[in-house]
Amino acid sequence: MSLQVTSQPKVIYLKDYQVPAFLIDHTQLHFELLADYTQVTATLSLCRNPESTQKNADLFLHGDKDLTLLSLAVDGELLTASAYLHDDKGLTLSDLDDKFSLEIITKIYPDENTALEGLYRSGGMYCTQCEAEGFRRITFFQDRPDVMSVYDTTLSADKTLYPILLSNGNLVDSGDSAEGRHFATWHDPHPKPAYLFALVAGDLANIEAPFTTMSGREVSLKVFADAKDLDKLDYAMQSLIKSMRWDEEVYGREYDLDVFNIVAVDFFNMGAMENKGLNIFNTSCVLAHPETTTDASYQRVEAIVAHEYFHNWSGNRVTCRDWFQLSLKEGFTVFRDSQFSADMNSSTVKRIEDVRLLRTAQFSEDAGPMAHAIRPASFIEISNFYTLTVYEKGAEVVRMLHTLLGADKFREGSDLYFERHDGQAVTTDDFISAMQDVSGRDLSQFKNWYNQAGTPVLKVTDEYDEISQCYQIHITQSCPATAGQSEKLPFHMPFSLGLLDASGSDIELDGGTTSLLELTQPSQSFSFNHIKTKPVPSLMRGFSAPVKLEYAYSPEQLMFLISHDSDGFNRWEASQKLAADIILDLVKRLQSGTQLSLDSCLIDAYRAVLTDKSLDKAMISQVLTLPSEQYLAQLSEVVDVANIHKARKFVRVELAVALENEFLETYQSARLIATKYDPSAPSIAKRALQNLSLSYLMALHQESYLELSLTQYREADNMTDSMAALALVAHSGFEQAAQTLLGDFYQKWQDDTLVVNQWFSVQASDPKEGTLARVVKLMEHSAYDAVNPNKVRSLVASFCMQNPVNFHAEDGSGYVFLADQILSLDKSNPQLAARLIGPLSKWKSYGDARAQQIREQLSRILDSGKLSADVYEVVSKSLA
Ligand code: BES
Ligand code: ZN
Repeated sequence: MSLQVTSQPKVIYLKDYQVPAFLIDHTQLHFELLADYTQVTATLSLCRNPESTQKNADLFLHGDKDLTLLSLAVDGELLTASAYLHDDKGLTLSDLDDKFSLEIITKIYPDENTALEGLYRSGGMYCTQCEAEGFRRITFFQDRPDVMSVYDTTLSADKTLYPILLSNGNLVDSGDSAEGRHFATWHDPHPKPAYLFALVAGDLANIEAPFTTMSGREVSLKVFADAKDLDKLDYAMQSLIKSMRWDEEVYGREYDLDVFNIVAVDFFNMGAMENKGLNIFNTSCVLAHPETTTDASYQRVEAIVAHEYFHNWSGNRVTCRDWFQLSLKEGFTVFRDSQFSADMNSSTVKRIEDVRLLRTAQFSEDAGPMAHAIRPASFIEISNFYTLTVYEKGAEVVRMLHTLLGADKFREGSDLYFERHDGQAVTTDDFISAMQDVSGRDLSQFKNWYNQAGTPVLKVTDEYDEISQCYQIHITQSCPATAGQSEKLPFHMPFSLGLLDASGSDIELDGGTTSLLELTQPSQSFSFNHIKTKPVPSLMRGFSAPVKLEYAYSPEQLMFLISHDSDGFNRWEASQKLAADIILDLVKRLQSGTQLSLDSCLIDAYRAVLTDKSLDKAMISQVLTLPSEQYLAQLSEVVDVANIHKARKFVRVELAVALENEFLETYQSARLIATKYDPSAPSIAKRALQNLSLSYLMALHQESYLELSLTQYREADNMTDSMAALALVAHSGFEQAAQTLLGDFYQKWQDDTLVVNQWFSVQASDPKEGTLARVVKLMEHSAYDAVNPNKVRSLVASFCMQNPVNFHAEDGSGYVFLADQILSLDKSNPQLAARLIGPLSKWKSYGDARAQQIREQLSRILDSGKLSADVYEVVSKSLA
């Protein structure tokens, strides 16, 4: 929520948790959707909570300051204004019976809701977003996840403008009423917290498919969108069906209503929302069509449809007691969706992508001023805690449990958790208890992962004794101090280890290829006997724990691992480490003015991978992708943005010069495979390798390769290939070709708003000089809309997050620009404004001059007076 604050807003602590004083068994809602406003009648059945120790407690109902209260009645008796207390946080009622009904009538203005929390309009339709605390913008309610209620919802609206009326659960009644209006009543039998409430009213088209669950229940699946997008819904439907089947097979979880609806909306703060039986999706995360959607977006659609569907159990049937437990549902569900994506596509590639995100973005969050544990101890505004830490690190923590217990025990633990807590609002401790009870293992030390922030560091050394044929590995763990936590206790974590012999084969360990070590102490050593020759260790296979690993690999060892490691993830990891070491060394040379040259080992390694016909194309593209500037920044003590960019570019060009023929050959043979577009893993891999090869060739800056890109652009029958060509040309130094192509692309796609967003983002992420001026100009473009989050993300966020050289320009212009954007956005959409602060909060890493410039902008924001709680929290913590 976005309370405007003048003084410091209140901090909420986990330790202050108390059970609710009242329960709301049943909630009946009536929405009269009218042209100028919406009238909401809520009829609540309340009783005192037997578990509360406060026997005569007042009833407090959350209510946003913009709610207009029309009337309030207890057991049918209207209350006068003196009978209750109404302030800008809600309503307080005293002297209540143990059991009573409450009727509340409120008036709200969805058209004026630009924060996109509560009931709002997206284009021509009405929709809601209630997580985390949006329901209090609809009516007065105990808007907390441990108050679970059965909902009956009636919507009434103009039939021509809003022919489709949807809410949670099953449709139980519908019909026409006077003056061209109609109504629909929905009943959701599963008690749920208010954050899972949803409604949609609009003129929507849909596709439909039947699904029979494992016990034989018939479910009707529907995906709704604006009529113009009807041809872009099939992939979401297929993804939904695959997800439902997968959750039955892998987790034994069955769907539990007669219908499952998905609705696509254009205005949305997040990607998608798991409202019971009525998931609401950002159009960017659900629409897909070969001509307009890239492979990356196809995979995102599949993953997000799965994620929101999986919440039906991990989140909805079993929900969170309070918002400190957010990772209970989000971490677990991200883990589930990553398992699903791994099963649907390539598991190694999925792991690589997840680790890449974790290490670039989550590690930097964990090293910054907003660092928090996956179960934070306090917050001001919960919207600020939907973070990579809660999501991605949270998923890693669940993954470690899976590794420590093994797949079978983990499944037993999951079964016990769902059975024990079905219909309840619980804590992360309850989740751990279930895992502990089925495995008989003591997981008390493991819980440190839930309470301690910061990325642990593992320092590894080893020694081999030829005479005793003994190999020893020594591991120490430590964790840097974070705000409010100076001392850290050691973590319990799995450490997967392989040892390669001189031929590159795995030495047998514990009867297999990999030994699962468990770390619990600050310092531990492990010995392996009968090791005939000095092995090359393959450390932390599959990235078995979310930590930073330090081991002094030589370039030769890394090259050996790239070609021989039986663990695909670690082959990739070795390639990244080799490239990162080389680039960071070049950064040092640039700083000292020394001549640059590229060590031939990287070229040799790349050549070997590129020409290895036995390797999977997806793996080749991953291995040959240089570490990003953001990841290189993450590895640097003091980030030298400009020289990281230069050094990385130098390596790209050198690789392209040395391997020009190989890249061209790879490109051309990929182009020869001309099949109709499909988003299957092998086709995606083909396009990835093709476009990666083209990008190296374009680094050579030759007319002939420009022609190759232009031809690909012209001939492409899918957005992946045309977008790849567009981006390469747009970011090349061929200025005229760039402008022509960008113009042509806009002409062609101007009516497709999601494609136009990609067009904005290509321009905003251009590393060339002058990009900021172009971004500022694009904000005046008729296709830009400053109150549509997708537009803001495609232009402003792309510039500040995907364009490090320009954002961190020496004159500080990038920082001033972002601060201006945050200030103006905070007035319309505080959640979105707060999410943009991220790039400014990491000022400590960028050297004194930039730190000073960034702090000035943060102070300017803080001093500007009226800030939302959202922005206030992030900015004040960033400056602390
Ligand atoms: N429950 C969230 C959506 C949400 C978060 C709504 C915060 C309002 C405030 C949903 O399940 C979610 O996590 N969505 C992610 C995508 C997912 C694949 C990680 C999102 O929206 O980015
Ligand atoms: Zn989620």
